[in-house]
Amino acid sequence: MTSIDALKYQTGFGSYFETEAHPGALPVGQNSPQKVPFGLYAEQLSGAAFTAPRHENRRSWLYRLRPSPEHGPYAPYAQDKLVSAFGGPVTPNRLRWSPLDIPAAPTDFVDGLVTLAGNADAATLSGIGVHVYLANASMKNRVFYDADGELLIVPQQGVLTLVTEFGVLTAGPGHIAVIPRGVRFRVEVDGPSRGYVCENHGAPFRLPELGPIGANGLANPRDFETPVAAFEDVDEPTLVIQKFQGALWAAEWDHSPLDVVAWHGNLAPYRYDLSRFNTINTVSYDHPDPSIFTVLTSPSDTPGTANCDFVIFPPRWMVAEHTFRPPWFHRNVMSEFMGLIHGAYDAKAGGFVPGGASLHNCMSDHGPDVASHKKATEAALAPHKIDGTMAFMFESRWVIRPTKFALETPALQDDYDACWTGFPKARLS
Ligand SMILES: [Fe+2]
Repeated sequence: MTSIDALKYQTGFGSYFETEAHPGALPVGQNSPQKVPFGLYAEQLSGAAFTAPRHENRRSWLYRLRPSPEHGPYAPYAQDKLVSAFGGPVTPNRLRWSPLDIPAAPTDFVDGLVTLAGNADAATLSGIGVHVYLANASMKNRVFYDADGELLIVPQQGVLTLVTEFGVLTAGPGHIAVIPRGVRFRVEVDGPSRGYVCENHGAPFRLPELGPIGANGLANPRDFETPVAAFEDVDEPTLVIQKFQGALWAAEWDHSPLDVVAWHGNLAPYRYDLSRFNTINTVSYDHPDPSIFTVLTSPSDTPGTANCDFVIFPPRWMVAEHTFRPPWFHRNVMSEFMGLIHGAYDAKAGGFVPGGASLHNCMSDHGPDVASHKKATEAALAPHKIDGTMAFMFESRWVIRPTKFALETPALQDDYDACWTGFPKARLS
């Protein structure tokens, strides 16, 4: 890799990129010429079927020092906390977790992945896996890729440096990073690190339609950042670990696969600064549906019913008149996994803390706790800014099934229901 100091970003989303880390490395006018400049090897990475409609089609051409197929067989890699088995009975109960501890023993991103929940086998090309990473060491001579889905990474503590085939991205709390299915990368950390990962088995994330909002608003395309090409020329044994059909496999290559000197295309990692989100909210009355906070969506084959929406609850002004301003009580056909990056969430007075999580599945009763409800019904309705907070939600059309680990960890709070105990009964006279 050249140098992280040389990192630059191109902006644009749904754009076409071309970038080279060495002058003249990128072929001109042709994807796979007989002789690629400098003897580089051309490789196409497809993120969609070859015949996907043009607006759905994603692929990039990579020009690398060595061809990717030059390696031996993979063997199972033991990491028993990363799972994709989501079968069996699933509880309808509302669940909430305190933050999982970052281990004291040296643990990198791959070994520190812990699965909390998920809702479809990767073989079906739909659904999501919900993981948390707990790491304190950088990956060294180790590279990871996920053949089961793209990875939406939500850092909560610590800044990650994602050294990918396409270049280098940094992402700390307040940023998200998305690594497409199959893209190889290494994670470097700057200290104890914790965050959330949505492993999207379905259609790649994209910006939601804006409908009557118009051409601007929510997450704006120009704020998505894609790395410029950067490569490393390392002839050292490198353990390449992949997730394939729910299990990890590893093979030792004799070189680093992060050797892409130039690339062009529309399939690439990207990052987004959540503080750039242009929040749309009511300026008259009533609390709008949380879909107004959708940053990215992975559509399913049913229009408007997402395989997964990534939704945030950012700082914003609350100005609604004669309105209960926090989220209302609700039951939802969609299933909701929530996390908190920092600050406090306006529907809970306590218990839901940064690094923690909650799960409200299909038709589960949920909403503000007693204290939040009381405060909101008694508050003077002057304009008020919710500030210093960033909660998020992975929302899916499929029921999100907690793993055995998630149901047995001491981090699972056994008193979550109590936050909804003690509401005074309405009086009709
Ligand atoms: Fe909800």
